[in-house]
Amino acid sequence: MERFIFDCDPGHDDAVALAMAKGLSKYFKLEAVIATYGNQTRDKTLANALNLAQALELDVPVYAGSEMPLIRKRVVAANIHGENGLAGPVFPPCKLKCAGNGIRYALDTVINNPGEITFVSVGPFTDLAVCLKADERFASSLKRIIVMGGSTVGGNVTNTAEFNVYADPEAAEIVFSSGVEIVQFGLDVTLQVMLNEDILNRVRASKETNYKKIFLASMEYYVKSCREFIHDFPAMHDPCTIAYLADPSAFEFKKVFVSVDCKSNLNYGATVDIREAEDKNVYKGIKADTEKFWNLFFEALERLP
Ligand code: BDR
Ligand code: CA
Repeated sequence: MERFIFDCDPGHDDAVALAMAKGLSKYFKLEAVIATYGNQTRDKTLANALNLAQALELDVPVYAGSEMPLIRKRVVAANIHGENGLAGPVFPPCKLKCAGNGIRYALDTVINNPGEITFVSVGPFTDLAVCLKADERFASSLKRIIVMGGSTVGGNVTNTAEFNVYADPEAAEIVFSSGVEIVQFGLDVTLQVMLNEDILNRVRASKETNYKKIFLASMEYYVKSCREFIHDFPAMHDPCTIAYLADPSAFEFKKVFVSVDCKSNLNYGATVDIREAEDKNVYKGIKADTEKFWNLFFEALERLP
């Protein structure tokens, strides 16, 4: 069973990914959650991660990740995810506490378990980059990296840049050039996995659970804000990483080398596939089997509290 650390910035689609990580737990072993800044400031995403961990009865520690990008000025996605980063659901008072520093935890866990741990990152790339730079044993000890980030089909923040890379392009460049095997879920593939009214109706008709309420309340907000700023229905960006861990056959990939534009003005934060590169270390997602994805989602839903 693949053991992984889940680094996220919840965030509406991050929250769905966490729920799938709990509901599909027979396929893999989630070791811990790290909350980084991204969709909102770190304090807010950490509070959301703790609330979700309590509601989902996650039973793994939740650590605090980075508060700021490496170099650029911090940007957050309050326009999409709201003032608290996960607008919509209301959670009861949280009894869970942050387990400590996520960077320290990730370094120790990966280095002490060589070849065992996968790092899944669905927020800005800062935590991964800091770990890679802090100790060279981190890269050689990782099993692999799975990320949501990047795009070669146009951006969702600027014309060319996707949010997670745009939020910390220099960190993303450190990660993509690390030489570690990377599975990339960029907009090329995640925009194929859109929520729709049929799925919402199937959820509405499903058994009453605490998570069902959370999902419907958060999607009500997410759909509304996406309609205002992006497309008709939101994409399930981050949950693709978890669906992939449960069933790799749900996606098709192409081997590429990814470079991040950290220099130009208008193209800042865009990812580019370099055809000429010899060391192609990235399996870039290019096609999603949406039926398999939603089957996994409903399989998870069945098992959630
Ligand atoms: C990514 O940006 C965030 O807003 C989402 O949670 C996802 O990780 C999509 O570009
Ligand atoms: Ca995210």
